[in-house]
Amino acid sequence: MTLSLSSDATAIAVSPRGPLSAELLEVLTDRAPERAEGLPQLARDAVLVEDPITDDDVQLSLFLLYAAAYGSLPQFGAHWEWDVSLLTTRAVLERAFEDAVRAAAPMPETPEATRESVAAALFALTAPQPGPSLSHFVSRKADADQARELLIQRSIYTLREADAHSWAIPRLTGRAKAALIEIQADEYGGGRVERMHQVMFAEAMRGAGLDDTYGAYADSVPAITFASFNLMTMFGLNRRLRGAAVGHLAAFEMTSSLPCRAIADGLRRVGFGEDVTAYYDEHVEADAVHEQIAGRDLAGSLAEDSPELLDDILFGAAACLTVDGWASEHILHAWEAGRSSLREERQPG
Ligand SMILES: [Fe+2]
Ligand SMILES: [Fe+2]
Repeated sequence: MTLSLSSDATAIAVSPRGPLSAELLEVLTDRAPERAEGLPQLARDAVLVEDPITDDDVQLSLFLLYAAAYGSLPQFGAHWEWDVSLLTTRAVLERAFEDAVRAAAPMPETPEATRESVAAALFALTAPQPGPSLSHFVSRKADADQARELLIQRSIYTLREADAHSWAIPRLTGRAKAALIEIQADEYGGGRVERMHQVMFAEAMRGAGLDDTYGAYADSVPAITFASFNLMTMFGLNRRLRGAAVGHLAAFEMTSSLPCRAIADGLRRVGFGEDVTAYYDEHVEADAVHEQIAGRDLAGSLAEDSPELLDDILFGAAACLTVDGWASEHILHAWEAGRSSLREERQPG
């Protein structure tokens, strides 16, 4: 069953993936606003699954609730953003998600809470690993359809690139805040809309013949793709997790430059032009700079100034590597098995 969310021109359809997301779609689109009060109990039932990180109903529901805060699915009225039943629902899902990620993410040894030690620990944690990787596959073997599939998978985050970590800006002070703003200013194009990374990614999607409307492929992506975006949004939106937001961004930037080079090479190899490759080419240089700022000035300074956040900085980095690692593995394993990484029942085109 597909629920059409709105009748306006940009309406996109999102299908439920279980009882909670089905009810949430009814409430968020104002078809059944009176049923909001029942959502927290549905959430308590929904999180009783073996793995909330890969559960479709849990991850889609969290994605929908965050969309109400971002405004990324305009069919969801802004009045739902601070609704107490929805906030309670979100807190239930976030608790289960966070607990599962804390249990899954292997923590590195704790360094000294100094700028250089923390940066060194994060660079060690994020050092390139030997063995097969998604970006290597894209560089050498992917065909044009698989390259498009990668853009579809990445669109859930990248059409909103940088927004998740921006929630953390007012939750920081001093050196860490200055460093985060320095990175984010670049992500948002330094005042030039056409240089905004999310705008460049939208152009890449259009250049590859894809729909750049936010959420156009929401029905196609697996739960782990939502989990990747939900993780950073959860860190950014919860003040108590600001250390994790910083660690997440540091790990994200530190693992971006080389894979982006490989992906840009792969996109060129299958025949895409500058409009599609520009986003990835931009990140080869930009993230080689960002990773230095993120490691020392952002994460290192935060640990030095607020040593009580050190464990969460490391947790955020480990969580990024774990969850994003699974999201990439999901795609790579599907391709190696000759399958699509998208959900079989809802492939685009
Ligand atoms: Fe970027
Ligand atoms: Fe960056």
